[in-house]
Amino acid sequence: MPRGETGNVADGLENVVAAETILSKVDGDAGVLILRGHYLQRIAGHHSFEWATQLLWQDFVDGPVALGPARVRAFEQLRDLLPMVGALPPLAAVRLALASVPDDADDAPQLLTATVAVALAAAVRRRDGRAPLAPDPKLCHAADFLRMLKGELPTQEDIDAFETYLLCSVDHGLNASTFTARVVASTQASLSDAVTAALCALKGPLHGGAPGPVLDMLDSIGPVENAEAWLDAAVMNGDRLMGFGHRMYRVRDPRCDVVKAVVARLNRNAGRLRYAEAVEAAALAVLEKRKPQRSLQTNHEFYTALLLEALGLPRDAFTGAFAVARVVGWIAHALEQRADGRLIRPQSEYVGPMPA
Ligand code: CMC
Repeated sequence: MPRGETGNVADGLENVVAAETILSKVDGDAGVLILRGHYLQRIAGHHSFEWATQLLWQDFVDGPVALGPARVRAFEQLRDLLPMVGALPPLAAVRLALASVPDDADDAPQLLTATVAVALAAAVRRRDGRAPLAPDPKLCHAADFLRMLKGELPTQEDIDAFETYLLCSVDHGLNASTFTARVVASTQASLSDAVTAALCALKGPLHGGAPGPVLDMLDSIGPVENAEAWLDAAVMNGDRLMGFGHRMYRVRDPRCDVVKAVVARLNRNAGRLRYAEAVEAAALAVLEKRKPQRSLQTNHEFYTALLLEALGLPRDAFTGAFAVARVVGWIAHALEQRADGRLIRPQSEYVGPMPA
């Protein structure tokens, strides 16, 4: 039987509810994201990453969240791996570093969260021929990550901007990487295994790998007058416009304008923002014309790319920066799955040949 003709398969698991969660809700028709009882728009810009971590981890992780000491411990554990960390692309370095977290560590949630930030910063610095910087446990996670990456204390404006980015990225329903974390956790593998697997799922350009290619797309378009023709040709060629479309949202992703407002406030390159806005308008027009059957809107990654660029992060660290935030959501979901869930084991429909 040809593929897709049994009618029994939820293609891409669209509309399948695979878990109950108290952690976050995405209402894709209304354009609403709720993080454990809070509308995103009401908390973004008002709370720290540590606050969001505490919010998502309460009832799953004992005691107050202390990421500063965990960063120091993560750096110590990474020492032997540092020569290798510098030889790998940043995300591969983070994946390797996660293996340094012992499976049975009592503080595995903190240590894994710290390791992502410490390893990413160290990998980027090594790659650029600079020595990794030890963490400063007195700083908040956002500030210390930027400091370890760039080598200088960030301004309060940059810290606030990055905090908002982290809060917007910390959790988002049963996205592909979070689902991966839950699947792995459901087998009773370790938290570190669940996080490592989730990181691999995040990497793909249809998920957390999108923001680097968003900037590549802006660079390729060239003068803004070219935008509509360039974008139209890309869609007609079967390419995806990066930073557009979403499995859940039929309206504008609510994280978009929160992040865009931060880019505007930073005001590092007003011309770049105006250019991106013009490209966005052209892309939406092209998508409406060429894909009228699906409401394709701007997603989180479009302005995220501009924000990370404005903060001076290199493109190959964008997906890693996403992981700096999302690791907290993965851990919360993995622990929730462990506490409440069964082994995740769906079925496949056999459409191959039958034995003669
Ligand atoms: N550009 C052009 N066409 C698109 C796009 C896009 N960005 N997104 C969807 N489509 C088309 C797709 O080609 C298909 O057309 P047709 O019916 O003619 O074959 C139709 O819309 C439905 O697409 P789909 O693949 O069924 O949609 P999906 O829900 O599986 O895909 C998506 C969601 C995010 C993978 C997709 O919209 C996409 O590839 N976007 C570009 C990559 C991107 O920006 N990713 C970041 C996602 S947001 C952050 C995150 O969750 O990590």
